[in-house]
Amino acid sequence: MLTREQNETLVRVGSGNPMGDLFRLYWIPFYPTDGLSIDGQPKRVKLLGEDLVAFRDSEGRPGLIANACPHRGAPLMFGRNEECGLRCVYHGWKFDVDGKVIDMPAEPSESGLKDSVRAKTYPCRERNGVLWTYMGPGEPPPLPEMEWNLVPDANVFVSFRVQECNWLQALEGEIDSAHAPILHGRIDNQGAISDWVASQDLQPKFECLEQPFGLSIASRRSIGDDTYYWRVNQFLLPFWTLVPPQSKFPELSGHAWVPMDDENTLCLMFSYTPAGPLYPRMRELLADGHRGRETGHASRYCYDPQPATVPYGDFRTKFTPESGYGFDYASQRDTWFSGMPGLWVQDAACQTGVSPIVDRTQEYLSASDMGIVRARRKLLGAAGAYRERGVAPPSASDPEMFMVRSVSLHLPAEAVWSEATASFMKAELGADFGYTP
Ligand code: FES
Ligand SMILES: [Fe+2]
Repeated sequence: MLTREQNETLVRVGSGNPMGDLFRLYWIPFYPTDGLSIDGQPKRVKLLGEDLVAFRDSEGRPGLIANACPHRGAPLMFGRNEECGLRCVYHGWKFDVDGKVIDMPAEPSESGLKDSVRAKTYPCRERNGVLWTYMGPGEPPPLPEMEWNLVPDANVFVSFRVQECNWLQALEGEIDSAHAPILHGRIDNQGAISDWVASQDLQPKFECLEQPFGLSIASRRSIGDDTYYWRVNQFLLPFWTLVPPQSKFPELSGHAWVPMDDENTLCLMFSYTPAGPLYPRMRELLADGHRGRETGHASRYCYDPQPATVPYGDFRTKFTPESGYGFDYASQRDTWFSGMPGLWVQDAACQTGVSPIVDRTQEYLSASDMGIVRARRKLLGAAGAYRERGVAPPSASDPEMFMVRSVSLHLPAEAVWSEATASFMKAELGADFGYTP
């Protein structure tokens, strides 16, 4: 349970709020590079409560500019993207990717106004199919070295979708692995997760380990007499979670839970194999879903594109609070424990909860919530240290700290998980797991 003040601190993402300022110390992945074409339609974006427009100019440079035109506030999402700039349709002011005014057609040429106006923009970088921006103070640090964003294209699958809740609810859902065999379980005993149910261990024991990048959250399940199945999830400041591989098609995956505003989250998911191409069948499943149901990724069939005025309109899905997430009570009897089809949909339905911002003064935390408690403490500590003493977390300026993997491992009962998994937690480009997941 949190106090009202603590909850407020964690959920408010606008500039000037403790968490809002902490997020702004880090690079933020915000769009797939192929979502913006040269001189193509600008896309409305919302990040950390700020109303923005992303576009790609005639030379291929990406731009991220405030939606409100600096003249009299017309929306630049309607802008004409032409000849190396975005032109406001109201009075024709035109801006380049750095926010410089390059034309004011209705202004006398002797007026110096052009040189004194500047649109607000944020720097963008592209790496391996993903656009990143830095919205913070001073010079941007180097891009974080995250393995999923550094491996060859063939090794990775990335998807984007919007979820209609505060970022922390979504992040907490991936820290908490106790829910997996329950929420994602099946009545018809299909799938890998159902094996955990079959093993009758629905009560994993949790242990956490403080890390310079955040937190390792280990869960232990009994498999037979002298063996434990350990799954180590990672939480990386400020909004990253890494999930361990499953045995059948072992791949590493995880999320950036990027706050669009206090009540909406851009969920970037990545799945990759560290040492070779992603299994073709796996890529197909992630992209298409399986017989109409979703995997952890948003499939191409789940999108419900919205008009240009809706932020991240291309990444809205059919599965929303309004549509009921495809909930079907009858299917609880014979197929899905939850009555909802597909992994991320089940997660989203529960994470989104009864309101976009959960009232954490009213919850009863249980033994399986240890990772969540520790992650909140970490976030409050980091946000407080920066606000009160100006001390940023070490990972804000150290890109190598992001070279981390999640781990799943069978270990003899007497083994110390943190020692046995330590070397497997370090990501090394091109290197395989180092164990059999
Ligand atoms: S409001 Fe954009 S040019 Fe006038
Ligand atoms: Fe889940």
